[in-house]
Amino acid sequence: MSEPVFAVIAEGLRKRYGDTEALAGLDLRVPAGTVHGLLGPNGAGKTTAVRVLTTLARPDGGTASVAGHDVVRGAARVRTRVGLVGQHAAVDEVLSGRQNLVMFGRLYHLGARTARRRADELLERFRLTDAAGRPAGQYSGGMRRRLDLAASMILAPPVLFLDEPTTGLDPRARIEVWDEVRALVGGGTTVLLTTQYLEEADRLADGISVIDHGRVIAEGTPDELKARLGGDRVEVVLQDPAALPVAAGIVSRAAGAEADVDAEALRVGAPAADRAAALTEAVRALDAAGVRVADVGLRRPTLDEVFLHLTEDAESEKEVPA
Ligand SMILES: Nc1ncnc2c1ncn2[C@@H]1O[C@H](COP(=O)(O)OP(=O)(O)OP(=O)(O)O)[C@@H](O)[C@H]1O
Ligand SMILES: [Mg+2]
Repeated sequence: MSEPVFAVIAEGLRKRYGDTEALAGLDLRVPAGTVHGLLGPNGAGKTTAVRVLTTLARPDGGTASVAGHDVVRGAARVRTRVGLVGQHAAVDEVLSGRQNLVMFGRLYHLGARTARRRADELLERFRLTDAAGRPAGQYSGGMRRRLDLAASMILAPPVLFLDEPTTGLDPRARIEVWDEVRALVGGGTTVLLTTQYLEEADRLADGISVIDHGRVIAEGTPDELKARLGGDRVEVVLQDPAALPVAAGIVSRAAGAEADVDAEALRVGAPAADRAAALTEAVRALDAAGVRVADVGLRRPTLDEVFLHLTEDAESEKEVPA
């Protein structure tokens, strides 16, 4: 049977907890073989979406299918095709790394021998072979996260859900997890991940859905989302900040576009077709007017700026998460 084009499809998903509408009509399409990032502020509904898509929670409305199977009617089939690394580590601290993996294998109904063989393969793959006999409670955070990833891969699932896979990890351990995720995707796995680190989404995700209050408020590739903030900008810092308003007028006239000013710098849009020219123009115009420039550069909006811009409107009405 061929794999579906979309590994994950959600249409109008709803989930309510008491008075809280955790999912308020969530739509999602994740092409098979890609990494998709789910971004959103605390309480946006990310974990709820992951729980519904992995059949741990039942939706109150809407539909979703994962790996071609409906998450409600085909829940048992979905379960054999997904792996999940939750927001909190699921490994047993007393058992060794190897024992943990064998236990997960047995939970998924692998025979004892197959479970041991799979455990050893995964320990190797996640560079835990040397630590395999030690209790998981003695592992560092990064090792534990890798053990979590290994446990979620016992059945080599076509679709892997990672809920904040690198929260609390140091930069090196985070990069190691990213490398593993890329390797998995290279092998054909589809990954849906939630993250608080926008750099992670930027580096790892092919597509991103920004969610807030249980629904998608923006989606696209990281570059598309950044382009929504107007694309690249020329940023100019002056030796004398007091001259910024005057300089902004000069740059606006030279660029034929309105320049923004804050306390430190002025910024003006740099058309994608001619970014370097926009930069040269600005410097030349300021120089001609005798304005002394301390620093100048082309700057692309970060995903953090996109995120803040998209979610700030909703901030005032946000309820405190339970
Ligand atoms: N089991 C539950 N019972 C009651 N309310 C819940 C439950 N699970 C989630 N909620 C509520 O649903 C909303 C969405 O929660 P969810 O955990 O999905 O958010 P999240 O985006 O994962 O947040 P975070 O970034 O903090 O992990 C929140 O308001 C939360 O308090
Ligand atoms: Mg969460």
